[in-house]
Amino acid sequence: MSNPLFRVLTGTSDPKRIVESVVPRRSFDDVVLPPSTRRSLDHALTHVTRHDLIFSRWGLGERHPTSLALAFNFAGAPGTGKTICAEAIAHALGRRLLIVRYAELESMWMGETPKNIVATFRLARKENAVLLFDEADAIAARRSAAPDHGFLRETNTVINVLLQELERFNGVVIFATNLAASFDPAFERRIRTHVLFEMPGVDEREQIWRVQLHSRTPLAPDVNFRALAERFEASGGDIRNAVLKAAMSAAAEPGNDAFKTIQQRHFEDGIREVLASKRVMRQSLLDVPAPQALVGEQQRAYPSLPPIATAVAITTSVLGLVVALVALAVALLR
Ligand SMILES: Nc1ncnc2c1ncn2[C@@H]1O[C@H](COP(=O)(O)OP(=O)(O)O)[C@@H](O)[C@H]1O
Ligand SMILES: [Mg+2]
Repeated sequence: MSNPLFRVLTGTSDPKRIVESVVPRRSFDDVVLPPSTRRSLDHALTHVTRHDLIFSRWGLGERHPTSLALAFNFAGAPGTGKTICAEAIAHALGRRLLIVRYAELESMWMGETPKNIVATFRLARKENAVLLFDEADAIAARRSAAPDHGFLRETNTVINVLLQELERFNGVVIFATNLAASFDPAFERRIRTHVLFEMPGVDEREQIWRVQLHSRTPLAPDVNFRALAERFEASGGDIRNAVLKAAMSAAAEPGNDAFKTIQQRHFEDGIREVLASKRVMRQSLLDVPAPQALVGEQQRAYPSLPPIATAVAITTSVLGLVVALVALAVALLR
C-alpha cells in the first residue's frame, strides 16, 4: 500500500487495527434476528442489491457520480449483531468489508481525523468495499452551533468532511451505533434507513445457541437450548461468549479428550459468568460520582471525551520533551 498512513492503520503488526479490510466469511445464514429487525434489514438489502445493479453493473455510477452513497444506520445494544450483519451484507454483494473503528480513529488521531477519513473513503473506492463505521456514536451527535472549544471544532470538521466524502462516494456505508442518538440533521438526510437491532426473544436465543456451535462440537445428551433460552435473557454476543467459556471448561476437565463433551452445566455456568461480568461493568459505569440525572447527559457527552484525554496526553508528553531538552542543553553546556 502506497499511503504510509494506511500502512500504520492497517499494519499487520498492530493487533488493534483501526481500519481493517476483510473478506467477509459470515453470511445471513449465520445470523438469527427478531422478525422486525429482519424485515428492516431485508428492506435495506433490497436497496443495496438494486443500487449495485443500477450504479455498478449498469454503469450509471460513472455517468452520475455524486450523491449516490447508500448509507444505513444500524442501531442497537452491544452484541445484537450489527457488525456481523454488515459482514453479511458485504458477503451478499461479494465485496470486501472495510471496518473503521471510529471511536479509536477519532481518539488516537486527533487533528488527523479528517485526513484519515478522506484516506478511508479513497481506500474503499479503490477496493470497491462496503464501508462500516463501527462504534460510530460520536458521528451521530449533533454538530455544535457554538464550536468555541478546540475539540468541538474538531468534531464539527470531522462531520463536515464525512458528509463531503459521503457525497462523493458511490457505494454502501454502514454506521453502527449503540445509543439511539439523534443524528445531526444534515447527516440524517444522508441516512437511507435506520435498522433497529432489537434484543433477541426466546425463539431467537434458542437458535443463536445452536448457530454458535459446529456439527463436530460434542454435546452431552442433557443439553437443552430451549431451557437456556428461556432462563437467560442474553444478547447474541453474550451467547457467543458463553459458548466459548463452556467449551473451555469442558475441555479443561480431566480425562481422555475423546470422551469429553459439553454439558448443560458448562453452558449454564458460562452464560451466568458472562451476564455477571456485564452487571459488574454496568455497575462500575454507574459508580462514577455524578448525580443520577446527569448520566444521560454524560453518555451523550462521551464521544467528546477521548479527544480531551488525547489532548491532555499530548500536552503532557510535549512538556516532558521540553524538560528533557532543557536538561540535555544544561548537561551539554556544563
Ligand atoms: N443475531 C445474531 N445471530 C447470531 N449470532 C449473533 C447475533 N448477534 C450477535 N451474534 C454473535 O455475537 C458476536 C458479536 O456480535 P456483533 O455483531 O459484534 O454485535 P454488535 O456489533 O451489535 O455489538 C457475533 O460475532 C456473533 O457470533
Ligand atoms: Mg460491533
